[in-house]
Amino acid sequence: MPSSPLQTTTESHNHSLKNGERYAEGINWDDLGFGLIPIDYMYTMKCSDRENFTQGQLSPFGKIELCPSAGILNYAQGLYEGLKAIRTEDGRILLFRTKENALRMKMGADRLCMPSPSVEQFVEAVMQTVQANKRWVPPPGKGSLYVRPLLMASGCNLGLGPGKEYTFVIYASPVGNYIKGRAALNLFVEHVYHRAAPGGTGGVKSVTNYSPVYQPLTQARAKGFSDILFLDSETGKNIEEIAAANIFILKGNVLSTPTLKLGTILPGITRKSIIDIARDFGYQVEESVIPVEDLLEADEAFCTGTAVIVNSVGSVTYQDKRVEYKTGEGSLCQKLYETLTGIQTGRLEDKNGWTLEVN
Ligand SMILES: Cc1ncc(COP(=O)(O)O)c(C=O)c1O
Repeated sequence: MPSSPLQTTTESHNHSLKNGERYAEGINWDDLGFGLIPIDYMYTMKCSDRENFTQGQLSPFGKIELCPSAGILNYAQGLYEGLKAIRTEDGRILLFRTKENALRMKMGADRLCMPSPSVEQFVEAVMQTVQANKRWVPPPGKGSLYVRPLLMASGCNLGLGPGKEYTFVIYASPVGNYIKGRAALNLFVEHVYHRAAPGGTGGVKSVTNYSPVYQPLTQARAKGFSDILFLDSETGKNIEEIAAANIFILKGNVLSTPTLKLGTILPGITRKSIIDIARDFGYQVEESVIPVEDLLEADEAFCTGTAVIVNSVGSVTYQDKRVEYKTGEGSLCQKLYETLTGIQTGRLEDKNGWTLEVN
């Protein structure tokens, strides 16, 4: 039976960190999954609909109290973000492009009629949360501290309309690989259900975008697929993204990813970074409308996201057709993964100023 991450301690990692600090005890750092491990502190900041956020604070990790008629519970007025704090070989802790998460939250908050923390407040709150929970940032190479900022209508409001009080919360958990062993994904192209429509909320991290995916995802998993790839809802002919990651396809020297122009695809921060890295490598990168046929004829396909990082697609099944792709050593996916994680872990030079050290 696989051991729970909370059951055993890997002594070799339980040595002191800088300044005599120690890693959290009782964690098997070699066996982290992607589940919630309750840690020391969370961060909370509140404001009314007539104010801006001003001052937040850390408190012990625990439950939050909500009015039963809170906008988040009744009308799903809420957004989330996801980012990682990573420990470098020399014991520092790095965040990756945190300002981009802050900007994306602001964009989503505008769409959902919510006040949002300023970029500075967001970054400062993430820094404080990670700083307070340093001992939970896994040893180098063992995973990361996944940081989850949430913004929600938390006050009581019965009628349909923007809430009167908002809460910004950040919690975090040590996590390992999102996909066990970084196994190549076997994607099912979903042609019945859709994730997003033009004019909807697919382009922001609204909480409403996620649970509607469960039904097709559960059905696909029951058939042995690892994830689903959505098609656009207008024509049903073009690929968009998977449940919580963006997709790229490679054909020759051209790397393509679906365009964000329709507002139906989440503008992934990993996606944006991979576009820059691939261009640096000399690939022609295109953001365009991609018919499903192009995917079926690609040399390689891979997904990108904070959780999956850069993960190869091993096969795609569309209606009754299944195609396989190049994966592993020598693939572009592997090269991009090495480079991106090299920057995120401080192994490679960060020429673009993407990382931020937590002191
Ligand atoms: C729907 C969706 N697409 C793409 C992504 C990837 O975005 P990022 O690279 O910013 O994590 C995510 C994850 O946040 C997501 O939920």
